[in-house]
Amino acid sequence: MKTMIEFTIDGVGVEAEEGSTILPVALENGFEIPHLCYHDEVSPYGACRLCLVEVERGGRRRLTASCTYPVLEGIQVLTDTEKVRKARRMIMELLLARCPDREALQELGSQMEIEKPRFELREEECILCGLCERVCREVVGANAISFFSRGYKKEMGPPFRDPKACIACGACVYVCPVDCIKMEETEEERTIVRWERTLPMKKCKACGQSFAPWFQLEYIKEKVKLPKDFFDVCPDCRG
Ligand code: SF4
Ligand code: SF4
Ligand code: FES
Repeated sequence: MKTMIEFTIDGVGVEAEEGSTILPVALENGFEIPHLCYHDEVSPYGACRLCLVEVERGGRRRLTASCTYPVLEGIQVLTDTEKVRKARRMIMELLLARCPDREALQELGSQMEIEKPRFELREEECILCGLCERVCREVVGANAISFFSRGYKKEMGPPFRDPKACIACGACVYVCPVDCIKMEETEEERTIVRWERTLPMKKCKACGQSFAPWFQLEYIKEKVKLPKDFFDVCPDCRG
């Protein structure tokens, strides 16, 4: 049986299973906390820091990322104090200065009434949230991308810029919170533009339509031990 933990968020009593973290519980209970690097299908990483809240525990209050902080009996979580708003605003300004052209950031920035970040503008597209890497590793199981270099030069991408492990499944494309991983698809091939990975598409033997990158289907077949001819026809024709 799961142990339930009771605590408060902005003075309202909530209950959550032991092992959860504050952010999903707050969101489920209708509290608004901005967040970029959290996804409920993968482990939290605490990269963007936008989900900061104040947590009061044992008479001490501290600012912390709510996506990684575990729920604990009797803690008081404060999502909208002056300190929280100020810290989030600063983080938002840093993100906007790094990637000024990303629409998702511009929207969040305008919600916080940030007209122009106070910091030097750069022209990056990626906020280094690591979500694509966690999805690729934990959900897809391909381990095709990771962080490399350090400090100012830190980047996300295929190790040694060789995308050979990428099966072009597109999962990272869908989860990137700032939409900076693009996918292009023709009848013949699919390209994950950011990782420079292009793979030929498999055509259905029955209807002749392309339905997924050939390499991706081979990978799935191998992983779940499907019959050799399983993907000869597309899901529509298989019925
Ligand atoms: S498209 Fe490539 S990098 Fe992206 S999740 Fe799939 S295997 Fe990983
Ligand atoms: S490419 Fe997107 S998902 Fe990956 S680290 Fe950068 S911002 Fe995050
Ligand atoms: S959502 Fe918590 S640090 Fe990014």
